[in-house]
Amino acid sequence: AEAEMAEEAILGFLQTREEIADSGEFAAAHGLDHSEVVNVIKSLHGFRYVDAQDIKRETWVLTEEGKKYADVGSPEVQLFLAVPPEGISREELQKRLDPSVFKIGSAQAGKNKWVEMGKHISRKVQHVDDKVKDMLTRIKDGQGIDADSIKALKARKLITPQTWKGYSVKRGPNYAPKRKKAATDLTRENLQRGDWRDLEFKEYNFSAKGPPSEGGHVHPLLKVRQQLKNIFLYMGFEEMPTNNYVESSFWNFDALFQPQQHPARDSHDTFFLKAPSTTRELPEDYLERVKRVHELGGYQSRGYGYEWKRDEANKNLLRTHTTAVSTRMLYLLAQKKPFEPKKYFSIDRVFRNEAVDRTHLAEFHQIEGLICDRGLTLGDLIGVLHDFFSRIGMSKLRFKPAYNPYTEPSMEIFSYHEGLGKWVEIGNSGMFRPEMLLPMGLPEDVRVIAWGLSLERPTMILYGIDNIRDLFGHKVDLGLIKKNPICRLGNN
Ligand code: PHE
Repeated sequence: AEAEMAEEAILGFLQTREEIADSGEFAAAHGLDHSEVVNVIKSLHGFRYVDAQDIKRETWVLTEEGKKYADVGSPEVQLFLAVPPEGISREELQKRLDPSVFKIGSAQAGKNKWVEMGKHISRKVQHVDDKVKDMLTRIKDGQGIDADSIKALKARKLITPQTWKGYSVKRGPNYAPKRKKAATDLTRENLQRGDWRDLEFKEYNFSAKGPPSEGGHVHPLLKVRQQLKNIFLYMGFEEMPTNNYVESSFWNFDALFQPQQHPARDSHDTFFLKAPSTTRELPEDYLERVKRVHELGGYQSRGYGYEWKRDEANKNLLRTHTTAVSTRMLYLLAQKKPFEPKKYFSIDRVFRNEAVDRTHLAEFHQIEGLICDRGLTLGDLIGVLHDFFSRIGMSKLRFKPAYNPYTEPSMEIFSYHEGLGKWVEIGNSGMFRPEMLLPMGLPEDVRVIAWGLSLERPTMILYGIDNIRDLFGHKVDLGLIKKNPICRLGNN
């Protein structure tokens, strides 16, 4: 309503007058709020109803101290009024006044020759005017005061300069005494009524900025995952279906020739499910061959020589590695005749019962790649690892012999980190054992080379994050998710 009143006043005024010389004076004269008047002028100027010119003025505003004196009077007057006609002792006066009022008041009142300062304080005049208070009040009300007073008040830090901004306003090329509201949309009703003929449409503003997008920030892990997916796809790998977090011990461990007493199968390392606690179905004939290879060996292996228990294999768990999925895929592949070579990859979540710290979470993501073909060698694995890791910007690699129950040989992968100036472990790899592949029914000369790494590690290196909890989990740093830089894997 205030805006409408201001608009009416401005356009009405310009109907008979050449110019509004000063928007501040105009607002005061019409009892309008200046900031509202300014908003209306800007809008009218935008639509060229008026031409507005900036005007600036140095004005004065009261400091906190100045505001206080404008309210309750200057300290010198407060002091004067506290001195009775018969005079007063210094101690008594000091008791009656605020310390700052006494200090400033006595200095000023003394200088004005209003009082005689000493052990005994007495009046030298009968009456005083509070000129300071009057001046401060005038300034507060936007009225002018003389230059000497300004100087004095400024010296006492009771006023401070401020730039006042306003406008002078003249009629513009589109001036009209009343603003026509420009239509923004052509509606069905406009067409039916036919009033579209008389409507004035708002022009398109092609340089208007859209609202900042607040939703839909892609998480750094997902960005890095997408880049890795692209790399695997360029290299001709197919993605494995990893949409089952719950897995049976059989597929997670037994099928991988991981013995049932292995410490990783302990509840200290693995999350077992309470309900449903066991799996419903396993391929029975394959299971028999797995049991036999654990207990007695075969395929030129001696096995582990323990009593393999079905109950242990049935236990449901949250998969501890995506190699459980690789195992299922290889088993499926082995059922297909004739044999078909395959390159598979996956990037998805795994779970381990770990103490959480800066570098460990109980839930993280694994990147896994495997190639299944006749006659592959360790040389092929090393070659593929060089190819894969150089595509993510890690071209200096070293390998260290390692142990996995399901691979032989096994190699830990290290990469030279330029930023850290040292070799860091980035993954694990190996060739799947015959004890794992042959019970599946894969042909004897088929070899599988495979490797795995976490998605979090390269993401943290890439984004310079040193606490994994900022990246993922319930303590995730939302600011980091919203404002993360564009980072790309690779050397460029
Ligand atoms: N499954 C292994 C791990 O969880 C990674 C790996 C995958 C090792 C494939 C060798 C071959 O660390």
